Amino acid sequence: MTVTLVTGANKGIGRETARQLIKEGHTVYIGARSVERGQAAAAELGAHFVQLDVTDDASVDAAMRAIEEREGRLDVLVNNAGLGDHTPGADGVTAESARTVFETNVIGIVRVTQAAIPLLRESADPVVVNVSSALGSFWAVTNPERRQSHFSFIVYGSSKAAVSMLTVQYAKALPEFKVNAVEPGFTDTDFTAGFPGGRPVEQSAEVVVRLATIGADGPTGTFWEDDHELPW
Ligand SMILES: NC(=O)c1ccc[n+]([C@@H]2O[C@H](COP(=O)([O-])OP(=O)(O)OC[C@H]3O[C@@H](n4cnc5c(N)ncnc54)[C@H](OP(=O)(O)O)[C@@H]3O)[C@@H](O)[C@H]2O)c1
Repeated sequence: MTVTLVTGANKGIGRETARQLIKEGHTVYIGARSVERGQAAAAELGAHFVQLDVTDDASVDAAMRAIEEREGRLDVLVNNAGLGDHTPGADGVTAESARTVFETNVIGIVRVTQAAIPLLRESADPVVVNVSSALGSFWAVTNPERRQSHFSFIVYGSSKAAVSMLTVQYAKALPEFKVNAVEPGFTDTDFTAGFPGGRPVEQSAEVVVRLATIGADGPTGTFWEDDHELPW
């Protein structure tokens, strides 16, 4: 049985990823910072729950200990938890707002991945999927044919560009792992409340699930959108 942890899985793309991976036969741990929201989602989906706030060392360490005691290893880590700066443009951006977004989207991935490495090393085929965004792709945000080039999300875009570099650097540092990033697509979740037109989570989670189940011959250090690679 493949043992999988999805962070920020009490709702949105993370929750749907958990649902689809359970259908694929994975034993899924839903990581959520709220015990109430996380337990409710886990009960609905038939998952396990671990309290996990990606900004908090103690909660991340406790979550890994709980998985270690129960499973002895981790096969797949999906770094999904994320925050955005919801107003486009420079107004409203502050050092504090940037710190909050980077603490979750960037340092959160480092904190969770570092804590998970010993457990992932117990897996025959360790996999890490970082849920990023095309708003962090230099190619997409400078390509007039891409919708991401028509908005400026200064902090969020920069944080997701950092997620790209984390993906490439972790892939190089851990050649026995598969470490890839995905752009799930513009999706109707609480994250995009106020921006109509997002697609359903069922569709967006598919690319996350595909990279989470990539297998021993799959790529590493790559960035995917639906069925194709996305330029960095
Ligand atoms: N929606 C899109 O169009 C879109 C597009 C590209 C990329 N993405 C990326 O997809 C991922 C999921 O986004 P979503 O659209 O599903 O958003 P969402 O519905 O708002 O879900 C975000 C999840 O992250 C969790 N989270 C936030 N801060 C956390 C923390 N410190 N510790 C643990 N969990 C935390 C939230 O928990 P709470 O319920 O406790 O807040 C929630 O479960 C994000 O990384 C986002 O950047 C989304």
